[in-house]
Amino acid sequence: MSDDAKSVPTYWDYLRLDQLLALQGGLEGDDAQLQPDELHFIIVHQAFELWFKLVLRELRLARDHLAAPRLPEEKVPHVVHHLRRTNEILRLGRDQFRIMETLTPQDFLSFRDKLIPASGFQSFQMREIEILLGLEERQRIDEVGVKPMEAIRALAERSPAGELAWKRIQAVREEQTLRSCLQAWLYRTPIQGSSPEDEQDSESVKAFLEDYLAAMENLDASRLGHFTRVPGAEEATTRERLQANTKMARSFLFAEDVAEGPERERVRRARAGLLFIESYRRLPLLAWPRVLVDTIVELEENLVLWRTRHARMVERVIGRRIGTGGSSGVDYLDATTRYRIFTELWTVRTLLLPRNALPKLAHPERYGFAS
Ligand code: HEM
Repeated sequence: MSDDAKSVPTYWDYLRLDQLLALQGGLEGDDAQLQPDELHFIIVHQAFELWFKLVLRELRLARDHLAAPRLPEEKVPHVVHHLRRTNEILRLGRDQFRIMETLTPQDFLSFRDKLIPASGFQSFQMREIEILLGLEERQRIDEVGVKPMEAIRALAERSPAGELAWKRIQAVREEQTLRSCLQAWLYRTPIQGSSPEDEQDSESVKAFLEDYLAAMENLDASRLGHFTRVPGAEEATTRERLQANTKMARSFLFAEDVAEGPERERVRRARAGLLFIESYRRLPLLAWPRVLVDTIVELEENLVLWRTRHARMVERVIGRRIGTGGSSGVDYLDATTRYRIFTELWTVRTLLLPRNALPKLAHPERYGFAS
């Protein structure tokens, strides 16, 4: 055969199919020795891990665009593009659990115990995704005796693969997170025509927030009457609830949860920027910023739904017994559905006002399309 014929690209060479299809032999290293449903179990997991690999790539590409010190408007669609692909993968992932569910509880029991302590708990790619997005260690569910990260760290010394997994976790911890890049980008949002580099910016931002909170209070005063229509509602209780909401809004917008100093200023401006984008989202200049914010809300929603769908599948296949990774199982998995990484994006939704109640927009000309 000539050298030319040998160098022709083929489907199987390009996709490394010979190597890929030789990787489903499980602990025995041989497909033929697997239990009848084990090939199915391995392939579903491997398919997920391949998708996770792509998710990591897409998130890093999105993060790199967003990390630029200045993100021109025409670059925002690039960030959105990579996040939308991630969203589609997570959506597809939910459907893949249906394939997993064709495994009956009893068939799984025929090979489950040999897996202990192997578990999705050790999916270092899932941990990298969480860390890259911005989930902090202190937010993790701390199960009695079983710590999610410990499941990987403790095994690092036992095998080269464990060591590699732990190294990857440590490396991703050094990277900028999507959350921190989003915060930095929101911080630069022009608010009522004012930008961070403007001399009076801090005062303009405070004035906007005070105007906004006053508008909230005015609206609440006029809404109180509507709530008297709720059967059994007591006016005093309703008033207290509305006031608690305004109090929460002030504390959130003025970043009272952050220690006083430059960090509080930074967080306050980023939150004000987010509130401004969400409130005046019809302005032409805010068209892409609002799509970006919506896409990240969708991303977090998809992740929560992925966790929920996984937990329901697990409940169906193993009931409420403990996991092979040693956690409480479904109770632990349900608890992880409370994780929220982009907390501000969710909180701000509680504060939004109808358009006709918003503070008057200053400098509308600065939010048109550049001519
Ligand atoms: C019959 C199928 C499955 C069962 C019974 C199952 C069960 C569990 C259980 C009980 C846990 C909690 C940790 C533990 O104690 O083991 C867990 C965690 C996990 N599983 Fe699964 N799982 C299944 C399939 C999958 C699939 C197909 C994936 C896709 C990659 C997956 C990914 C994960 C991940 C990422 C975690 C860690 C969740 C976290 O800590 O936030 N699992 N699984």
